[in-house]
Amino acid sequence: MKIRYCLARPHDALAIGVLARRVTRRWILPEQPASAAEALLYGMGARLIRQKIRDGQRFHLAWLDDDRLVGVAAMRDDSHLFQFFVSTRLHGHGIARQLWQRTMRDAIRRAGTRHFTLKASAMAVPVYLHFGFVPSGPLLVSDTGLVTQPMHLDLP
Ligand SMILES: CC(C)(COP(=O)(O)OP(=O)(O)OC[C@H]1O[C@@H](n2cnc3c(N)ncnc32)[C@H](O)[C@@H]1OP(=O)(O)O)[C@@H](O)C(=O)NCCC(=O)NCCS
Repeated sequence: MKIRYCLARPHDALAIGVLARRVTRRWILPEQPASAAEALLYGMGARLIRQKIRDGQRFHLAWLDDDRLVGVAAMRDDSHLFQFFVSTRLHGHGIARQLWQRTMRDAIRRAGTRHFTLKASAMAVPVYLHFGFVPSGPLLVSDTGLVTQPMHLDLP
């Protein structure tokens, strides 16, 4: 299995949205109230993602055999991880680890970042703990009812 990692360009937005929505429907929505779904999926539309890429937000991608998108990690302001998805069939192969290391190194190189934040789905909390993140406080509930665990990582 050959995985190629690279930074997204605007024309990758459609593939990113398809992957993000598919993985979200499978793993995140079942653990959330129905009221949270629409706004969450809306934020993963190709148009919004394309605009974010154009605005300079960094989407790190993992491609299988150069033509199938199988992973994405997106960072805002070189410090906040706001999308992190791997194709279900490829979970457990180290793709998230590779994506996180590339995303973190990119932010450190660009901005000298030592403090990272995210809002974790319940399913991903053990993975983030494994990466060294710790909970920043109690569970958050957004105005649409989306429940997340705020976490942060401070590098020495
Ligand atoms: C979370 C997610 C991105 C992880 O992707 P993945 O490619 O399967 O993860 P990896 O195989 O790279 O594993 C990452 C590390 O976490 C560890 N890990 C995985 N599951 C774990 C668990 N339940 N408990 C503890 N550690 C775990 C792995 O052993 C690995 O550690 P290593 O690099 O030291 O060997 C993937 O499960 C996913 O897309 N989930 C659904 C979407 C989601 O919830 N995204 C997060 C949104 S906030």
